Amino acid sequence: MKPLSQKIKKIQPSATLSITAKAKQLKSQGVKVINFGAGEPDFDTPQNIKQKCIEALNKGLTKYTPTAGVPELKQAIIEKLKKENNLEYTSDEVIICCGAKHAIFNAVCVLVDDGDEVLVPSPYWVSYPEMVNFAGGKLVAIPTDEKTNFKITAELLKKYITDKTKLLILNYPSNPTGMTYTKEELQDIAKVLVEHQIYCISDEIYEKLVYDGLKHISIASLGPEIKKLTITVNGLSKAYSMTGWRVGYACGPKEIISAMNNLQDHSTSNITTFVQYASIEAIKNSDQFVSMMYNEFIKRRDYIVEEINKIPYLKTTKPQGAFYIWVNIKELKGKKYKDQLITDSLKLAELLLVEAKVAVIPGLPFGDDDYIRLSYATSLEDIKEGIENIKNFLTNIE
Ligand SMILES: Cc1ncc(COP(=O)(O)O)c(C=O)c1O
Repeated sequence: MKPLSQKIKKIQPSATLSITAKAKQLKSQGVKVINFGAGEPDFDTPQNIKQKCIEALNKGLTKYTPTAGVPELKQAIIEKLKKENNLEYTSDEVIICCGAKHAIFNAVCVLVDDGDEVLVPSPYWVSYPEMVNFAGGKLVAIPTDEKTNFKITAELLKKYITDKTKLLILNYPSNPTGMTYTKEELQDIAKVLVEHQIYCISDEIYEKLVYDGLKHISIASLGPEIKKLTITVNGLSKAYSMTGWRVGYACGPKEIISAMNNLQDHSTSNITTFVQYASIEAIKNSDQFVSMMYNEFIKRRDYIVEEINKIPYLKTTKPQGAFYIWVNIKELKGKKYKDQLITDSLKLAELLLVEAKVAVIPGLPFGDDDYIRLSYATSLEDIKEGIENIKNFLTNIE
């Protein structure tokens, strides 16, 4: 057999997959596992959205559409961006993709050449490094920690810029830390990007989940110069509990969107046609659902943060958005559970699953092995049970 391509060899299997597979195995054996691993809201997609999908199917809206999406959905996105994000785009500056993940992948492929450096604040979403690798680029992680609230500053950014730097991928509110940027912070970052003519993919998939009176600001809205360099990415997965529907979008300069369109023309084509019609309903008529989910997440966040910080060996900062907590486990590394050494975040995640029946995501694939990620997109009842399990597990640490 001839070898697989060099390109695909660069893609690592998901380090979180073995945990997920083990969790499933335990569940199939009838073991109750508390799932702090979920990267998706635990609510059902609202009924009005499902209804529009059924209606579209019944109307026979089941054929190909333009690759970048039907004009009605593009228009709904354009109006949303104007109203909520203070961004003005025309139809040829918007493309609808199979999730925000696909939008980011296309954008990275369109912008990154062999040897280009791509800056990503660390910890980062697990898929960014693989996308950059696949495109032939070099990921340059900008480390952040509790002291800087897991955020980069303009000063820090400048230190990592070289003549090979092509792109910054910024994600706020962040998966995994939940931290977000203020308008002033974004203005400072934008200034540096404009000065060095560096592109920015702004991944704003968690924009609806920003807490404590903070306001989500799109970096592209901060002036015409930064807008020319920015591809704003968003989607319906997290905002409307539609992860399985696969709807995301990107907007940006016409040349970039048109190149993304070419790539998509020859790979996936348009996203599912009847889903596009349901997406219009989601964007236009979901305020009530979003505020219900939002209020529920705040309750859970406040509870889980307080409880985790009461537990010896663990600490976490209060996230400002999304539905994750990023828990520092440094004190546990090098310690033993019964006779098993906790070497790294992967080993801790494995022990928590097998011994405490709690699924968490190790920090390593996010770029920082001193942490684990817990999602609070699970019921308060389960959160309480999971916390008890973790507490009991930790009484056996020595
Ligand atoms: C930061 C971030 N960006 C993008 C995505 C992709 O979302 P989707 O492809 O479901 O729209 C996710 C999903 O977990 C995410 O956490």
